[in-house]
Amino acid sequence: MSGVQTATATAAQILAEKIQSRRARVGIVGLGYVGLPLAVEFAKAGFSVTGIDVSEQKSRRVNAGDSYVGDISSATLGPLVDAGKLRATSDFDDMCELDTINICVPTPLRKTKDPDMSFIVSACQEIASRFHAGMLIILESTTYPGTTDELVLPMLTKTGLEVGRDFFLCFSPERVDPGNPSFQTVNIPKVVGGCTPACTEMGRLFYSQALERVVPVSSTQVAEMVKLLENTFRMINIGLANEMALMCGRMGINVWEVIDAAATKPFGFMPFYPGPGLGGHCIPIDPFYLSWKTRQAGIEARFIELAGYINGQMPHFVVDKVQNALNDAGKPVKGSRIHVMGVAYKRDIDDMRESPALDVILLLRQRGALVTYSDPYVPRMRLDGLELVACPEEAAGAADCVIIVTNHSAFDYRALVDRSPLVVDTRNSLRGMVSEKIVRL
Ligand SMILES: NC(=O)c1ccc[n+]([C@@H]2O[C@H](COP(=O)([O-])OP(=O)(O)OC[C@H]3O[C@@H](n4cnc5c(N)ncnc54)[C@H](O)[C@@H]3O)[C@@H](O)[C@H]2O)c1
Repeated sequence: MSGVQTATATAAQILAEKIQSRRARVGIVGLGYVGLPLAVEFAKAGFSVTGIDVSEQKSRRVNAGDSYVGDISSATLGPLVDAGKLRATSDFDDMCELDTINICVPTPLRKTKDPDMSFIVSACQEIASRFHAGMLIILESTTYPGTTDELVLPMLTKTGLEVGRDFFLCFSPERVDPGNPSFQTVNIPKVVGGCTPACTEMGRLFYSQALERVVPVSSTQVAEMVKLLENTFRMINIGLANEMALMCGRMGINVWEVIDAAATKPFGFMPFYPGPGLGGHCIPIDPFYLSWKTRQAGIEARFIELAGYINGQMPHFVVDKVQNALNDAGKPVKGSRIHVMGVAYKRDIDDMRESPALDVILLLRQRGALVTYSDPYVPRMRLDGLELVACPEEAAGAADCVIIVTNHSAFDYRALVDRSPLVVDTRNSLRGMVSEKIVRL
């Protein structure tokens, strides 16, 4: 192995040999949208993988070969479990046997928009109390720059072991895009940065056994910042597209046509699209990890705050559009039946985290509307103490107004326009259709 010092040769060489021969026992802590697909890739590559999750229900389902993550079919998971390549547990003592551990636990924001590190801290405490020489630990949860060196490393060095010599610690941002048929865990290039060059090299060696391309960087902070740049770039550009939509709306210009025409420029432009607001566990959250950290360094992240404000206004803008459209049709929003098409945060997945549909429904209810919804991926949902059950698509026909919030490909958009008196389209799903009934964002 290049980058591994002579003095570190023993622990590094033993672990490197185990990794290359696929004898390393791989552990994944947190078996969610990120952890389960990663566990599956390493099991497919021939490693013996143990997934550890605080949720006993998830452990049980994995062990039954029953996938709960959209990108992993039970037909893929089941044979790996049957072959003894993948198992799940909620017993942290099983960590004692592991050679590598990837940490894929949640990193939400607190209500104050401060990072909530409690899941990372709790997972690292479990690791530290069962830590042994020769381990590779990789943090994958999205977090602020400095977390791996400032928070995780001290918890592990407390054991008396030395990083880069006795054990190896890296950060590697997870870039998975649930529901994307072209790019999945295996073919999304994996950036990895270690606390020392030996750590980076061990991380590179590890991922290159199972994933197509690994991109080593010089430090954990660079790797942490890569993820925040990617998601901040997206969040700010969506904010710009949303601001364009607000401006075009005021001026009577079709923003979708503007963006499509601009996207014909073969260089220097990349299209982003407006919508009802941001959703998911990443784009609405990760940039605030960065702004929290930069505030401590005396720099205000103004682009982030501004885009966050504009994106946060979108559900209100959509509800105003609905109210105006109903008023034009001679109906007050109070007492009107409004049907929401799609409540997941993006198309063709079941994830409801931070979904703008939640805000849209709450705002409509506050204005006195009677709200129903359809979503083939979300059969029921809880909102503000209320249990809502999905209706068949046809129910849209009974509504005074329909809002397309999530553009699932399973919806029959032509039939929707035919049977509905009024459709507010926040996703340009009705592109090319001409009807007086359609109100576009
Ligand atoms: N979902 C995405 O599209 C995506 C994409 C890129 C990065 N990420 C990042 O990856 C991380 C994980 O996200 P996710 O979407 O997989 O979350 P998730 O909620 O789907 O999964 C996290 C899992 O960790 C488990 N868990 C929580 N605390 C634990 C602990 N102390 N020990 C063991 N298990 C624990 C939970 O039960 C859950 O199953 C987050 O930091 C997120 O920002 C997510």
